[in-house]
Amino acid sequence: ECRKMSTTERTFIAVKPDGVQRGLVGEIIARFEKRGYKLIALKLVSPTKDHLETHYEDLKGKPFFPSLISYMLSGPIAAMVWEGLDAVKTGRAMLGATNPLASAIGTIRGDYAIQTGRNICHGSDSVESANKEISHWFTENELNKYNNPLQSLIY
Ligand code: TYD
Repeated sequence: ECRKMSTTERTFIAVKPDGVQRGLVGEIIARFEKRGYKLIALKLVSPTKDHLETHYEDLKGKPFFPSLISYMLSGPIAAMVWEGLDAVKTGRAMLGATNPLASAIGTIRGDYAIQTGRNICHGSDSVESANKEISHWFTENELNKYNNPLQSLIY
């Protein structure tokens, strides 16, 4: 069997408006911190409709697209970038399945949500989309560097 080696990756994680309104930002950040991922960028934003339609452009033809966009416009979003081994795949595992009712207990959606249309968080589904999403949501100088050499011992 040929298994992929773990690689250091970056992933785009967002707490959607319902997650922010329900006070789950701290909980979601804490899970990524405690797992051992490194926080590269973090901001609370209220993006335009255009910005959100580009973020979800692959879903443009879906019947739920208009309701998805109005849900995403319903309040501020906590946008972040996390880095570490297998960040994309492990990030998705930590979020749980798209439908919270199908999410394992212990995942973020499995613990805090019951509706697909109110599933509280977003995570990139591939390294390619992570890179696209990171540059869509953040400017280069918002992506922080850790200069303290001790940081490389921690992560
Ligand atoms: P998708 O990219 O398929 O899932 P994920 O967020 O897990 O990568 O869909 C994007 C979002 O669209 C999803 O988080 C919630 C919403 N959505 C619906 O409202 N209804 C649906 O049937 C699906 C598949 C998604």
